[in-house]
Amino acid sequence: MSRPERIAHSKITRKFRSAGQQLLFAQGKGGEVSDANGARYIDFVMGYGPVIIGHSDDLFNEMVCGHLVNGVMMPGYTVFHQEYLERLLGDRPGDRGAFFKTASEAVTAAFRLAAMRTGRLGVVRSGYVGWHDAQIANSLKWHEPLHSPLRERLRYTDGMRGVGGSEPALNWVDLRLESLAELLDQHRGSLGCFVFDAYLASFTTPEVLRQAVAMCRDAGLLTVFDETKTGGRISPLGYDHDHGLGSDLVVIGKALANGAPLSLLVGGAELLAHAERARLSGTFSKEMIAVYAALATRDILEKPAGDSPDGWAEIGRIGTQVAATITSAARDAGVASLVGARPVLGGGMFELTYADEVLGDKEGRDALLNAFAAAGILLLEGHPSFVSLAHRDIDWGELRDRAHQAFEQWTASTGANRE
Ligand SMILES: Cc1ncc(COP(=O)(O)O)c(C=O)c1O
Repeated sequence: MSRPERIAHSKITRKFRSAGQQLLFAQGKGGEVSDANGARYIDFVMGYGPVIIGHSDDLFNEMVCGHLVNGVMMPGYTVFHQEYLERLLGDRPGDRGAFFKTASEAVTAAFRLAAMRTGRLGVVRSGYVGWHDAQIANSLKWHEPLHSPLRERLRYTDGMRGVGGSEPALNWVDLRLESLAELLDQHRGSLGCFVFDAYLASFTTPEVLRQAVAMCRDAGLLTVFDETKTGGRISPLGYDHDHGLGSDLVVIGKALANGAPLSLLVGGAELLAHAERARLSGTFSKEMIAVYAALATRDILEKPAGDSPDGWAEIGRIGTQVAATITSAARDAGVASLVGARPVLGGGMFELTYADEVLGDKEGRDALLNAFAAAGILLLEGHPSFVSLAHRDIDWGELRDRAHQAFEQWTASTGANRE
């Protein structure tokens, strides 16, 4: 008798299937995971970005376990929280950090600080910035290329509070400065916060983003760079810091603690001093296991890796190689004019790229994801995929063969035209 389904899924958590059955995972090691039936997959989902060292890394496990003798929750913050922020923010002497478990929480905290400072509840968003109501209500398929026919369909329109009237939640869709200027002008007086997903920096230039931040600040908005995917992955602090954009607040999440839940809101001491009045914390904000994991992650990534000066650079090299391997498999399978892969923001992430005729074909793209899963590769579609330090040990010939097999199966099942 089959067991009843107990887990309430979101669309995202039921993405991966084998022979029509949803995968239930049992174990991860290095750059691979296996499912409940023991089938092995090369994993480029990596928990949607957090697993940056690799699954169940021996050194990481040893370091985290070594810290556990100190306990996991104290009445308040600890020397471990303090040490972590000192290491993370060493280059930003004026900054403080607020601890959270998820980035959605940290972005909500930024919205509240913005509203307290400006007296205005409206927000301008660009990119996926979390699942809380004002973050996701009436939003787009943000990871689609700017010209994709799938990009602009409004999603998550039901059951959301705090998104209308004097609390507009607006989308900066096309990343043109003229449209941002229009939004700021039309809603002057009701907008308090601008938030930008740093992944979308790969769609534009640092100069455009510098001007966007300056325009929003001139219009009296608090500016937030959301480095949830990028901070701790493309570099220790992410895009805003590396390019000197100077947003008021930075959100970092995902890759800080190799899978343990940790997210931070970082900004000037004067702004973060409002955290007390704004009540920005919950029971688990001061939890320590994630901080032990973050200290261990940093210990590992700070060291030279392979020929690279540190783990962040090595991860960029690895993701660039993964993208090139998938592209060359597409070439071998005769589908390179339809699909390929490219490194994103230095290679810590990579994504599938499509010719225009495939871009709007949702079914064809889903079929490709399924073909990859069937060939033993889990990656993301319509979203960047993630690599870890452990992927340097993958068998590159095997990756290429499996990707080739996936493209072959895709063309067989969809009749996609080969050149
Ligand atoms: C840019 C960005 N912001 C916020 C979030 C929300 O993070 P969490 O799922 O930890 O709440 C995500 C998650 O994918 C993200 O990519």
